[in-house]
Amino acid sequence: MGIDLMEWLHLGIRWIHIITGIAWIGASFYFIWLDMNLTPPEKDGRKDKDGVGGELWAIHGGGFYEVQKYRVAPPALPDHLHWFKYEAYFTWLSGFVLLTLLYYFGAEIYLIDQNVADISTDTAILIGLGSLFGSWVIYDFLCKTPLIRHQGVFGLVLFLLLTLAAWGLSQIFSGRGAFIHVGAIIGTIMAANVMMVIMPGQRALVSAAEKGEEPDPTPGLKAKQRSLHNNYFTLPVLFIMISNHYPMTFGHEFSWLVLAAIAAVGVLVRHYFNMKNQGKAKQGFILLPISFVLFFVIAWAATPRTEDLSEGPKVPFAQVQEIIQNRCASCHAAKPSDEGFDTPPKGVKLETAAQIIREKTRIRQQSVDTDAMPLGNVTEMTEEERKMIGRWIAQGASKD
Ligand code: HEC
Repeated sequence: MGIDLMEWLHLGIRWIHIITGIAWIGASFYFIWLDMNLTPPEKDGRKDKDGVGGELWAIHGGGFYEVQKYRVAPPALPDHLHWFKYEAYFTWLSGFVLLTLLYYFGAEIYLIDQNVADISTDTAILIGLGSLFGSWVIYDFLCKTPLIRHQGVFGLVLFLLLTLAAWGLSQIFSGRGAFIHVGAIIGTIMAANVMMVIMPGQRALVSAAEKGEEPDPTPGLKAKQRSLHNNYFTLPVLFIMISNHYPMTFGHEFSWLVLAAIAAVGVLVRHYFNMKNQGKAKQGFILLPISFVLFFVIAWAATPRTEDLSEGPKVPFAQVQEIIQNRCASCHAAKPSDEGFDTPPKGVKLETAAQIIREKTRIRQQSVDTDAMPLGNVTEMTEEERKMIGRWIAQGASKD
Protein backbone atom coordinates (compact mmCIF):
# COMPACT_ATOMS: atom_id res chain seq x y z
CA MET A 1 0.00 0.00 0.00
CA GLY A 2 1.33 3.43 -0.92
CA ILE A 3 2.25 5.69 1.93
CA ASP A 4 -0.39 8.22 0.96
CA LEU A 5 -3.17 5.68 1.14
CA MET A 6 -1.73 4.65 4.48
CA GLU A 7 -2.02 8.25 5.67
CA TRP A 8 -5.67 8.30 4.63
CA LEU A 9 -6.23 5.08 6.54
CA HIS A 10 -4.66 6.66 9.63
CA LEU A 11 -6.83 9.71 9.24
CA GLY A 12 -9.99 7.65 8.85
CA ILE A 13 -9.29 5.49 11.90
CA ARG A 14 -8.22 8.44 13.99
CA TRP A 15 -11.46 10.17 13.09
CA ILE A 16 -13.47 7.13 14.19
CA HIS A 17 -11.40 6.95 17.37
CA ILE A 18 -12.21 10.54 18.28
CA ILE A 19 -15.90 10.21 17.41
CA THR A 20 -16.43 7.04 19.43
CA GLY A 21 -14.23 8.40 22.23
CA ILE A 22 -16.35 11.55 22.49
CA ALA A 23 -19.52 9.46 22.54
CA TRP A 24 -18.11 7.22 25.26
CA ILE A 25 -16.66 9.92 27.48
CA GLY A 26 -19.76 12.06 26.91
CA ALA A 27 -21.92 9.20 28.16
CA SER A 28 -19.60 8.69 31.14
CA PHE A 29 -19.81 12.38 32.08
CA TYR A 30 -23.56 12.41 31.60
CA PHE A 31 -24.38 9.32 33.61
CA ILE A 32 -22.04 10.11 36.52
CA TRP A 33 -23.50 13.61 36.56
CA LEU A 34 -27.00 12.15 36.45
CA ASP A 35 -26.32 9.72 39.24
CA MET A 36 -24.89 12.36 41.51
CA ASN A 37 -27.76 14.76 40.90
CA LEU A 38 -30.59 12.35 41.61
CA THR A 39 -32.93 13.28 44.45
CA PRO A 40 -34.89 10.62 46.34
CA PRO A 41 -38.62 10.61 45.56
CA GLU A 42 -41.21 11.39 48.19
CA LYS A 43 -41.04 8.87 51.04
CA ASP A 44 -43.78 6.23 50.86
CA GLY A 45 -45.08 7.90 47.70
CA ARG A 46 -45.99 5.90 44.61
CA LYS A 47 -42.52 6.11 43.09
CA ASP A 48 -40.81 5.14 46.31
CA LYS A 49 -43.03 2.08 46.56
CA ASP A 50 -42.29 1.19 42.93
CA GLY A 51 -38.61 0.99 43.85
CA VAL A 52 -37.47 4.34 42.45
CA GLY A 53 -34.36 5.43 44.32
CA GLY A 54 -33.80 8.82 42.72
CA GLU A 55 -35.22 11.17 40.12
CA LEU A 56 -34.20 14.20 38.18
CA TRP A 57 -35.76 16.82 35.96
CA ALA A 58 -33.84 18.51 33.18
CA ILE A 59 -34.45 20.77 30.24
CA HIS A 60 -32.37 20.42 27.11
CA GLY A 61 -32.78 21.14 23.44
CA GLY A 62 -36.18 22.68 23.96
CA GLY A 63 -37.81 19.89 25.94
CA PHE A 64 -38.37 18.69 29.50
CA TYR A 65 -37.01 15.34 30.61
CA GLU A 66 -37.92 13.36 33.67
CA VAL A 67 -35.50 10.59 34.55
CA GLN A 68 -35.84 8.12 37.37
CA LYS A 69 -33.40 5.54 38.63
CA TYR A 70 -34.58 2.36 40.29
CA ARG A 71 -32.87 1.23 43.47
CA VAL A 72 -32.22 -2.16 41.83
CA ALA A 73 -34.62 -2.91 38.97
CA PRO A 74 -38.07 -1.80 37.82
CA PRO A 75 -41.05 -4.08 38.57
CA ALA A 76 -41.37 -4.84 34.83
CA LEU A 77 -38.80 -4.41 32.09
CA PRO A 78 -39.61 -2.01 29.25
CA ASP A 79 -39.69 -3.16 25.61
CA HIS A 80 -36.75 -0.99 24.72
CA LEU A 81 -33.81 -0.84 27.05
CA HIS A 82 -30.84 1.20 25.85
CA TRP A 83 -27.40 -0.17 26.47
CA PHE A 84 -24.16 1.76 26.18
CA LYS A 85 -21.28 -0.39 25.14
CA TYR A 86 -20.39 0.03 21.47
CA GLU A 87 -18.87 3.47 22.13
CA ALA A 88 -16.42 1.79 24.50
CA TYR A 89 -15.66 -1.16 22.26
CA PHE A 90 -15.11 0.89 19.13
CA THR A 91 -12.98 3.44 20.95
CA TRP A 92 -10.75 0.65 22.16
CA LEU A 93 -10.65 -1.17 18.82
CA SER A 94 -9.89 1.93 16.77
CA GLY A 95 -7.26 2.94 19.33
CA PHE A 96 -5.68 -0.46 19.19
CA VAL A 97 -5.55 -0.39 15.38
CA LEU A 98 -3.91 3.04 15.50
CA LEU A 99 -1.41 1.86 18.09
CA THR A 100 -0.55 -1.11 15.88
CA LEU A 101 -0.27 0.85 12.64
CA LEU A 102 1.84 3.62 14.06
CA TYR A 103 3.78 2.25 16.99
CA TYR A 104 4.08 -1.45 16.13
CA PHE A 105 4.47 -1.36 12.33
CA GLY A 106 6.58 1.78 12.79
CA ALA A 107 8.27 0.50 15.96
CA GLU A 108 11.76 1.46 14.87
CA ILE A 109 10.74 5.06 14.39
CA TYR A 110 8.01 5.66 16.95
CA LEU A 111 8.42 3.12 19.72
CA ILE A 112 12.09 2.36 20.07
CA ASP A 113 14.72 4.90 20.98
CA GLN A 114 18.21 3.39 20.86
CA ASN A 115 19.38 5.97 23.38
CA VAL A 116 16.84 4.71 25.89
CA ALA A 117 17.06 0.97 25.29
CA ASP A 118 18.53 -1.02 22.46
CA ILE A 119 15.75 -3.58 22.03
CA SER A 120 14.45 -5.46 19.02
CA THR A 121 11.11 -4.67 17.41
CA ASP A 122 9.65 -7.97 18.58
CA THR A 123 10.71 -7.40 22.17
CA ALA A 124 9.32 -3.88 22.11
CA ILE A 125 5.95 -5.02 20.77
CA LEU A 126 5.74 -7.87 23.27
CA ILE A 127 6.47 -5.50 26.15
CA GLY A 128 3.90 -3.06 24.79
CA LEU A 129 1.16 -5.67 24.49
CA GLY A 130 2.14 -7.24 27.80
CA SER A 131 1.84 -3.87 29.53
CA LEU A 132 -1.74 -3.44 28.29
CA PHE A 133 -3.05 -6.83 29.29
CA GLY A 134 -0.88 -7.23 32.38
CA SER A 135 -2.14 -3.93 33.78
CA TRP A 136 -5.73 -5.04 33.42
CA VAL A 137 -4.99 -8.25 35.32
CA ILE A 138 -3.33 -6.31 38.17
CA TYR A 139 -6.06 -3.67 38.31
CA ASP A 140 -8.84 -6.25 38.24
CA PHE A 141 -7.11 -8.21 40.99
CA LEU A 142 -6.83 -5.06 43.13
CA CYS A 143 -10.55 -4.42 42.66
CA LYS A 144 -11.23 -7.81 44.22
CA THR A 145 -9.15 -7.17 47.34
CA PRO A 146 -10.52 -5.46 50.48
CA LEU A 147 -8.67 -2.33 49.33
CA ILE A 148 -11.62 -1.52 47.09
CA ARG A 149 -13.66 -0.60 50.18
CA HIS A 150 -11.38 2.37 50.83
CA GLN A 151 -11.97 4.57 47.81
CA GLY A 152 -9.30 7.14 48.55
CA VAL A 153 -6.54 4.64 49.33
CA PHE A 154 -7.52 2.55 46.34
CA GLY A 155 -7.28 5.61 44.09
CA LEU A 156 -3.87 6.48 45.49
CA VAL A 157 -2.51 2.95 45.04
CA LEU A 158 -3.79 2.87 41.47
CA PHE A 159 -2.24 6.24 40.76
CA LEU A 160 1.13 5.10 42.14
CA LEU A 161 1.01 1.88 40.12
CA LEU A 162 0.26 3.77 36.92
CA THR A 163 3.09 6.18 37.70
CA LEU A 164 5.34 3.17 38.16
CA ALA A 165 4.20 1.90 34.76
CA ALA A 166 4.96 5.29 33.21
CA TRP A 167 8.40 5.27 34.77
CA GLY A 168 9.11 1.69 33.70
CA LEU A 169 7.93 2.23 30.14
CA SER A 170 9.97 5.42 29.86
CA GLN A 171 13.08 3.32 30.60
CA ILE A 172 12.26 1.05 27.66
CA PHE A 173 10.47 3.08 24.98
CA SER A 174 10.80 6.47 23.33
CA GLY A 175 9.00 9.25 25.24
CA ARG A 176 6.09 9.13 22.82
CA GLY A 177 5.98 5.35 22.94
CA ALA A 178 5.88 5.36 26.75
CA PHE A 179 3.12 7.99 26.92
CA ILE A 180 0.92 6.29 24.36
CA HIS A 181 1.27 3.01 26.21
CA VAL A 182 0.20 4.53 29.51
CA GLY A 183 -2.81 5.94 27.64
CA ALA A 184 -3.48 2.56 26.08
CA ILE A 185 -3.17 0.84 29.48
CA ILE A 186 -5.79 3.16 30.94
CA GLY A 187 -7.98 2.79 27.84
CA THR A 188 -7.71 -0.98 28.04
CA ILE A 189 -8.69 -0.99 31.72
CA MET A 190 -11.64 1.26 30.91
CA ALA A 191 -12.88 -0.85 28.00
CA ALA A 192 -12.33 -4.09 29.91
CA ASN A 193 -14.31 -2.62 32.82
CA VAL A 194 -17.20 -2.20 30.42
CA MET A 195 -16.88 -5.61 28.84
CA MET A 196 -15.89 -7.79 31.78
CA VAL A 197 -17.68 -6.18 34.72
CA ILE A 198 -20.24 -3.54 33.80
CA MET A 199 -21.98 -5.46 30.99
CA PRO A 200 -22.14 -8.81 32.85
CA GLY A 201 -23.41 -6.96 35.94
CA GLN A 202 -26.17 -5.39 33.91
CA ARG A 203 -27.01 -8.65 32.16
CA ALA A 204 -27.44 -10.30 35.57
CA LEU A 205 -29.84 -7.56 36.64
CA VAL A 206 -31.85 -7.85 33.43
CA SER A 207 -32.04 -11.61 33.52
CA ALA A 208 -33.21 -11.61 37.15
CA ALA A 209 -35.82 -8.99 36.31
CA GLU A 210 -36.99 -11.03 33.30
CA LYS A 211 -37.47 -14.08 35.47
CA GLY A 212 -39.32 -11.98 37.99
CA GLU A 213 -36.73 -12.81 40.66
CA GLU A 214 -35.50 -10.41 43.29
CA PRO A 215 -32.23 -9.23 41.66
CA ASP A 216 -29.01 -9.35 43.63
CA PRO A 217 -27.77 -5.74 43.84
CA THR A 218 -24.07 -6.73 44.14
CA PRO A 219 -23.24 -6.97 40.39
CA GLY A 220 -24.92 -3.61 39.83
CA LEU A 221 -22.90 -2.03 42.64
CA LYS A 222 -19.68 -3.46 41.28
CA ALA A 223 -20.53 -2.11 37.85
CA LYS A 224 -21.16 1.28 39.41
CA GLN A 225 -17.74 1.23 41.07
CA ARG A 226 -15.95 0.45 37.81
CA SER A 227 -17.95 3.06 36.02
CA LEU A 228 -16.79 5.63 38.58
CA HIS A 229 -13.16 4.54 38.08
CA ASN A 230 -13.63 5.04 34.35
CA ASN A 231 -14.94 8.50 35.01
CA TYR A 232 -11.75 9.46 36.87
CA PHE A 233 -9.61 7.98 34.10
CA THR A 234 -11.13 10.18 31.40
CA LEU A 235 -9.19 13.42 31.85
CA PRO A 236 -5.72 11.84 32.23
CA VAL A 237 -6.33 9.71 29.16
CA LEU A 238 -7.45 12.72 27.14
CA PHE A 239 -4.30 14.57 28.16
CA ILE A 240 -2.16 11.67 27.01
CA MET A 241 -3.92 11.60 23.65
CA ILE A 242 -3.10 15.24 22.93
CA SER A 243 0.34 15.17 24.54
CA ASN A 244 2.08 13.85 21.44
CA HIS A 245 1.74 17.33 19.95
CA TYR A 246 3.77 18.71 22.85
CA PRO A 247 7.35 17.47 22.93
CA MET A 248 8.02 19.33 26.20
CA THR A 249 5.89 16.64 27.90
CA PHE A 250 6.95 13.30 26.43
CA GLY A 251 10.39 14.60 25.44
CA HIS A 252 11.19 15.74 28.99
CA GLU A 253 14.01 14.12 30.91
CA PHE A 254 11.49 13.16 33.60
CA SER A 255 8.61 12.58 31.21
CA TRP A 256 6.97 10.01 33.53
CA LEU A 257 6.84 12.60 36.31
CA VAL A 258 5.33 15.20 34.00
CA LEU A 259 2.75 12.64 32.98
CA ALA A 260 1.90 11.70 36.57
CA ALA A 261 1.65 15.32 37.70
CA ILE A 262 -0.63 16.35 34.85
CA ALA A 263 -2.74 13.23 35.33
CA ALA A 264 -3.13 14.27 38.99
CA VAL A 265 -4.43 17.65 37.83
CA GLY A 266 -6.94 15.84 35.63
CA VAL A 267 -8.13 13.68 38.52
CA LEU A 268 -8.49 16.71 40.82
CA VAL A 269 -10.53 18.58 38.23
CA ARG A 270 -12.76 15.55 37.72
CA HIS A 271 -13.13 15.25 41.49
CA TYR A 272 -14.21 18.86 41.77
CA PHE A 273 -16.95 18.30 39.19
CA ASN A 274 -18.10 15.16 40.91
CA MET A 275 -18.29 17.02 44.25
CA LYS A 276 -20.17 19.84 42.58
CA ASN A 277 -22.62 17.33 41.14
CA GLN A 278 -23.28 16.08 44.67
CA GLY A 279 -24.08 19.60 45.81
CA LYS A 280 -20.67 20.08 47.41
CA ALA A 281 -19.45 22.79 45.06
CA LYS A 282 -18.39 24.99 47.99
CA GLN A 283 -16.33 22.37 49.79
CA GLY A 284 -14.75 21.26 46.53
CA PHE A 285 -14.13 24.69 45.07
CA ILE A 286 -10.60 24.88 46.46
CA LEU A 287 -9.66 22.05 44.08
CA LEU A 288 -9.98 24.36 41.08
CA PRO A 289 -7.35 26.96 42.08
CA ILE A 290 -5.15 24.08 43.34
CA SER A 291 -5.35 22.38 39.93
CA PHE A 292 -4.72 25.63 38.14
CA VAL A 293 -1.66 26.48 40.25
CA LEU A 294 -0.39 22.91 40.06
CA PHE A 295 -0.58 23.01 36.26
CA PHE A 296 1.56 26.14 36.14
CA VAL A 297 4.00 24.82 38.71
CA ILE A 298 4.45 21.75 36.50
CA ALA A 299 4.88 23.97 33.45
CA TRP A 300 7.43 26.11 35.27
CA ALA A 301 9.35 23.15 36.66
CA ALA A 302 9.35 21.29 33.35
CA THR A 303 10.55 24.21 31.24
CA PRO A 304 14.16 23.54 30.33
CA ARG A 305 16.60 25.95 31.91
CA THR A 306 19.35 25.55 29.41
CA GLU A 307 22.39 27.63 30.30
CA ASP A 308 22.55 30.74 28.17
CA LEU A 309 23.32 29.13 24.86
CA SER A 310 24.43 32.31 23.10
CA GLU A 311 27.72 32.22 25.07
CA GLY A 312 30.66 30.83 23.16
CA PRO A 313 32.09 31.28 19.69
CA LYS A 314 29.77 32.06 16.82
CA VAL A 315 28.30 29.00 15.15
CA PRO A 316 28.54 29.34 11.37
CA PHE A 317 25.36 28.49 9.50
CA ALA A 318 27.20 26.04 7.25
CA GLN A 319 27.80 23.88 10.32
CA VAL A 320 24.13 23.94 11.31
CA GLN A 321 23.06 23.08 7.81
CA GLU A 322 25.42 20.15 7.78
CA ILE A 323 24.02 18.79 11.07
CA ILE A 324 20.47 19.13 9.83
CA GLN A 325 21.37 17.58 6.51
CA ASN A 326 22.82 14.56 8.33
CA ARG A 327 20.29 14.18 11.12
CA CYS A 328 16.98 15.47 9.81
CA ALA A 329 16.86 15.65 6.02
CA SER A 330 16.61 11.91 5.48
CA CYS A 331 12.96 12.36 6.50
CA HIS A 332 12.40 16.11 6.20
CA ALA A 333 13.03 16.51 2.50
CA ALA A 334 10.79 16.96 -0.51
CA LYS A 335 11.78 13.40 -1.41
CA PRO A 336 12.82 11.67 1.82
CA SER A 337 15.52 9.05 1.52
CA ASP A 338 14.21 7.26 4.65
CA GLU A 339 12.22 4.22 3.49
CA GLY A 340 9.39 4.93 5.90
CA PHE A 341 8.41 8.21 4.24
CA ASP A 342 7.35 9.18 0.73
CA THR A 343 6.56 12.75 1.69
CA PRO A 344 8.14 14.99 4.38
CA PRO A 345 6.44 14.28 7.74
CA LYS A 346 3.99 17.02 8.72
CA GLY A 347 5.11 18.85 5.58
CA VAL A 348 8.27 19.99 7.39
CA LYS A 349 11.16 20.28 4.90
CA LEU A 350 14.61 21.11 6.19
CA GLU A 351 16.78 21.26 3.11
CA THR A 352 17.35 24.86 2.13
CA ALA A 353 18.66 27.71 4.28
CA ALA A 354 15.31 29.48 4.01
CA GLN A 355 13.43 26.39 5.22
CA ILE A 356 15.74 25.89 8.19
CA ILE A 357 15.57 29.52 9.25
CA ARG A 358 11.79 29.58 8.91
CA GLU A 359 11.46 26.49 11.11
CA LYS A 360 14.00 27.58 13.74
CA THR A 361 11.53 27.76 16.61
CA ARG A 362 10.14 24.31 15.95
CA ILE A 363 13.63 22.94 15.37
CA ARG A 364 14.57 24.24 18.83
CA GLN A 365 11.45 22.81 20.46
CA GLN A 366 11.85 19.43 18.83
CA SER A 367 15.58 18.86 18.92
CA VAL A 368 17.26 21.27 21.37
CA ASP A 369 14.86 21.82 24.29
CA THR A 370 13.74 18.20 24.00
CA ASP A 371 14.96 15.19 22.09
CA ALA A 372 11.62 14.50 20.41
CA MET A 373 13.39 14.74 17.02
CA PRO A 374 14.99 12.96 15.28
CA LEU A 375 12.26 10.40 15.96
CA GLY A 376 13.69 7.56 18.00
CA ASN A 377 17.01 9.32 17.35
CA VAL A 378 17.36 7.04 14.34
CA THR A 379 19.98 9.33 12.81
CA GLU A 380 21.97 9.36 16.07
CA MET A 381 22.15 13.05 16.72
CA THR A 382 24.61 13.92 19.48
CA GLU A 383 24.13 16.23 22.49
CA GLU A 384 26.94 18.37 21.12
CA GLU A 385 25.03 18.90 17.88
CA ARG A 386 21.84 19.80 19.72
CA LYS A 387 23.72 22.44 21.71
CA MET A 388 25.31 23.74 18.55
CA ILE A 389 21.94 24.34 16.94
CA GLY A 390 20.64 25.89 20.16
CA ARG A 391 23.59 28.25 20.23
CA TRP A 392 23.10 29.23 16.58
CA ILE A 393 19.44 30.08 17.30
CA ALA A 394 20.34 31.98 20.49
CA GLN A 395 22.88 33.96 18.47
CA GLY A 396 20.15 35.15 16.12
CA ALA A 397 19.85 32.30 13.59
CA SER A 398 21.57 34.17 10.80
CA LYS A 399 22.41 32.81 7.39
CA ASP A 400 26.17 33.30 7.66
C1 HEC B 1 13.02 9.16 10.99
C2 HEC B 1 12.44 10.28 10.39
C3 HEC B 1 12.65 11.64 11.02
C4 HEC B 1 13.84 12.26 11.31
C5 HEC B 1 15.23 11.77 11.10
C6 HEC B 1 13.47 13.55 11.83
N1 HEC B 1 12.11 13.69 11.88
FE1 HEC B 1 11.06 15.33 12.41
N2 HEC B 1 9.33 14.36 12.12
C7 HEC B 1 9.23 13.04 11.73
C8 HEC B 1 7.82 12.64 11.82
C9 HEC B 1 7.26 11.28 11.48
C10 HEC B 1 7.11 13.77 12.26
C11 HEC B 1 5.62 13.85 12.55
C12 HEC B 1 5.42 13.46 13.98
C13 HEC B 1 3.98 13.42 14.39
O1 HEC B 1 3.22 12.69 13.79
O2 HEC B 1 3.65 14.12 15.36
C14 HEC B 1 8.08 14.83 12.42
C15 HEC B 1 7.74 16.10 12.83
C16 HEC B 1 8.66 17.13 12.94
C17 HEC B 1 8.33 18.50 13.19
C18 HEC B 1 6.91 19.06 13.33
C19 HEC B 1 6.43 18.85 14.73
C20 HEC B 1 5.06 19.42 14.94
O3 HEC B 1 4.17 18.62 15.21
O4 HEC B 1 4.91 20.63 14.85
C21 HEC B 1 9.50 19.19 13.29
C22 HEC B 1 9.66 20.69 13.55
C23 HEC B 1 10.57 18.25 13.09
N3 HEC B 1 10.03 17.01 12.88
C24 HEC B 1 11.90 18.56 13.16
C25 HEC B 1 12.92 17.65 13.01
C26 HEC B 1 14.32 17.97 13.20
C27 HEC B 1 14.85 19.33 13.58
C28 HEC B 1 15.00 16.82 12.95
C29 HEC B 1 16.50 16.63 13.04
C30 HEC B 1 17.13 17.05 14.24
C31 HEC B 1 14.05 15.80 12.60
N4 HEC B 1 12.79 16.33 12.67
C32 HEC B 1 14.38 14.51 12.26
C33 HEC B 1 10.24 12.24 11.30
C34 HEC B 1 11.58 12.53 11.41
